[in-house]
Amino acid sequence: MRRSRAPEPATLVIFGATGDLARRKLLPAVFGLWQDGLLGSAFNIVGVGRQEMDDEQFKDYAIDALKTSKETDEIKEGSLEKFRELLYYEYGEFGEDEVYDKVRSELDRAETARGGGKNALFYLSTPPSLFEPISSGLGRQGLQDETEGWRRIVIEKPFGRDLQSARELNDAIHRVWDESQVYRIDHYLGKETVQNLMAIRFGNAIFEPLWNRGFVDHVQITASEDLGLEGRAGYYEEAGIVRDMLQNHLMQLFTLTAMEAPSAFEADAIRDEKVKVLRAVKRIPADRVPEVAVRGQYGPGALDGQTVPGYKQEPDVKRGSRTPTYVAVKLEVDNWRWQGVPFFLRTGKRLPKKVTEIAVVFKRPPLGLFPGGLERNVLAFRIQPDEGVSLKFSSKSPGQEMVLREVVMDFRYDAFGAQLESPYSRLLLDAMLGDATLFPREDEVDHAWQIVSGILQAWEGADAAAPKFPNYAAGTWGPDAADELLGPGRRWRRL
Ligand code: BG6
Repeated sequence: MRRSRAPEPATLVIFGATGDLARRKLLPAVFGLWQDGLLGSAFNIVGVGRQEMDDEQFKDYAIDALKTSKETDEIKEGSLEKFRELLYYEYGEFGEDEVYDKVRSELDRAETARGGGKNALFYLSTPPSLFEPISSGLGRQGLQDETEGWRRIVIEKPFGRDLQSARELNDAIHRVWDESQVYRIDHYLGKETVQNLMAIRFGNAIFEPLWNRGFVDHVQITASEDLGLEGRAGYYEEAGIVRDMLQNHLMQLFTLTAMEAPSAFEADAIRDEKVKVLRAVKRIPADRVPEVAVRGQYGPGALDGQTVPGYKQEPDVKRGSRTPTYVAVKLEVDNWRWQGVPFFLRTGKRLPKKVTEIAVVFKRPPLGLFPGGLERNVLAFRIQPDEGVSLKFSSKSPGQEMVLREVVMDFRYDAFGAQLESPYSRLLLDAMLGDATLFPREDEVDHAWQIVSGILQAWEGADAAAPKFPNYAAGTWGPDAADELLGPGRRWRRL
């Protein structure tokens, strides 16, 4: 399957090549694709950074990254030596022209070496403040011009820090690039099981008739992490959980769960449907935020028997920090399918375990004929770990009495016996093939910002309703207020 998807010869230019993301995720992903023969030999990588280094030093750096990253596939004999030959490096200040001029020379060099077009994928794996300067710098050198080969730009998250800055960034990018050349990455869309959500919804007939307000009571989407800051305080203090997880990853999971079936499995047909459902989400003005959103920040606690510090005790976090590390929100969708069915989204750091799940919770049976028989059925998509799908329903418990008990029917994704591909491999290859299906379009990102911007305003302005932080201990499931958000008769799933 993967082998039928080989892109044309191209150069991958990674801005921020010596950064954390490139080291831990991107280089291993590219290496994996290349080692599987998907990138061909007429392929090379130009790392670009601000750090002064020559080609040899960068090659050493990259090879070391591959050897130490947990994400690297099994290395075949001789592979690293050959991969090393594909790597080049340029450095400079991203606000100045020189570095883009050097990138252009690299593309010329690659073309001379391998022939063919000057196809290039520019991957911006840098802090967000550099997205605009790099995009414009490439534009000043005409590197977006597609007359000699395709040119595409991949932009990491977060795309903007609020609605207005996202729009400004979009405008700046569009001064150089056509939307068809822009690939905004959200690595959750590259996860195999996130794509499986579409496969199960739209590839089977049994779910569709139940997938609406007639049968569904509510939906719970959870992305919990046991990890804390991982040395990223500088970034996280600026971002907080709403920008880091809710505006992008959780919104994407929500959208795929709630959208209508597309007319075709094609980028724009799918993205049109995603935008439609985002448009139908009731906006949350700042004064409604206390009713529909709950925030938290972790205090000291214990995880896996180890004591861990609270958020404010993490290195480089301000002692009086108000940055939330947990959010739960109730979304209401004003359309025919979902009117009256709340979607509850929650995500947080330092929760008891890493688990991402979408649970469709059905209405109770209308009549309790049997003792214990009024539980709600749940169809749960486990995105990670233990990827799979499960259906919870009631069954007769063995014995003389007609007593019901909940049981679970479970499909585990590992039944396919295949190792799951890293989301970055999938998305990089898609971008090189020009397939934008799994990349959020400009209007999707805009709507997602519209939905969360009231929350940011309420929590970042003068904030009389601010809870006292910390309000949950590390290793617990978040603040108590999140339980109340669900309303009577509902509770968060125990995961
Ligand atoms: C990243 C966030 O986008 O996603 C991190 O910046 C978070 O804070 C990570 O830990 C979670 O991704 P995954 O794939 O491990 O669920």
